[in-house]
Amino acid sequence: MSNKLFTPIKIKNIELPNRTMRSATWDATADEYGAVTNESVKIYRDLGKGNIGLIVTGHAYVSHPLGQATPRQYGIYSDEMIPGLKKLVNAVHHGGDSKIAVQIAHAGINSGYLIEKGFKPLAVSSLPESKRPHHEMTEQDIQTTIKDFINAAVRAREAGFDAVQLHAAHGYLMSQFISPIYNNRSDEWGGDPDRRRQFHIEVVKGIRKAVGNDYPLFMKFGLMDDREGGMSLAQGIEVAQLLVALGVDFIEVSGGVGNVATYIKPGDIDRPVFRERAAALKRAVKVRVAAVNGIRSPQMAKEIIDSGDVDVISFSRPFIREPQFLSRWMNGDKNPASCISCNRCFPIVGRGEIMECGEDRRIREEAKAAK
Ligand SMILES: Cc1cc2nc3c(=O)[nH]c(=O)nc-3n(C[C@H](O)[C@H](O)[C@H](O)COP(=O)(O)O)c2cc1C
Repeated sequence: MSNKLFTPIKIKNIELPNRTMRSATWDATADEYGAVTNESVKIYRDLGKGNIGLIVTGHAYVSHPLGQATPRQYGIYSDEMIPGLKKLVNAVHHGGDSKIAVQIAHAGINSGYLIEKGFKPLAVSSLPESKRPHHEMTEQDIQTTIKDFINAAVRAREAGFDAVQLHAAHGYLMSQFISPIYNNRSDEWGGDPDRRRQFHIEVVKGIRKAVGNDYPLFMKFGLMDDREGGMSLAQGIEVAQLLVALGVDFIEVSGGVGNVATYIKPGDIDRPVFRERAAALKRAVKVRVAAVNGIRSPQMAKEIIDSGDVDVISFSRPFIREPQFLSRWMNGDKNPASCISCNRCFPIVGRGEIMECGEDRRIREEAKAAK
């Protein structure tokens, strides 16, 4: 029986070999300056052999040092990072016909890591109730950060990535700009929904101008905030429509403010958490849309694609445990990805240890203790 999930799909001017995607996943393999290491290359070599349509790298910070969110995160803040990033591109392209995009990001206030290192993160607005030390972005900070995003996208193209993905989700800087919870500025960057979008508009317009019309520009978008007083789904869809008109070519739907742990509940297995909101977006825009979060079985992935709700199915944690699970599915295996959504991969990377499945580590340690 043919399975549309494994048929090619065109996004802008690139063709993915199938409708699957590895969502951006920070792997804690970069060195202290954010440069790619041999451990990073090994991960992308494995993924490159995994029959994945599109692979997105872990978030890469656009500004040094204040854009960094997490330890051993990739950096894309300087031309010096380009040779290392090229190695990730080559690792994937030599492995098969997967495409690879780099995710570019800025932490804003959402960086416990920077605070530990003694820095004061940038905040869109001063937040008196926040326990995190921070300082409100000046006009100069905003202009510099927009330029940093634009320069990062140019570096993505220079490094040979098939596309660049803006990280506009999970409570990082772009989510903060768009959310009434984080943005209570009263100048041209905040104060009402139109002005809260201005940062996104300038970033997208600037990138388009710098990389030209042909280079694919993707976005992982927190389409709504899921918090009282936050951005609503209707507002999120309006923003997405505007950004598509300005040149965004593909949107992966995720959650807005609140860090990612808010959205991925331990034990969520085969519950497609963002399916409905992604389907609502797909009905409202002409570009391709992906859903991520909680999808684990080939039956669920196929059903979502066949329903037309979205165009691409995206996974993160399943590839940590089993980089090749799609090859099983392509060969007709009906067993879900072996990830049990326990979220124990998080504390591992959180300590700056190389990404690994927490359940596999537990099993290994128990076996060692039993010897
Ligand atoms: C260890 C880990 C690192 C992650 N790093 C990123 C990241 O760099 N950028 C991002 O947008 N999301 C990141 N995420 C979130 C995932 O991309 C994804 O949105 C989320 O895990 C839900 O999908 P899943 O159920 O298939 O895992 C990360 C998740 C995990 C578990």
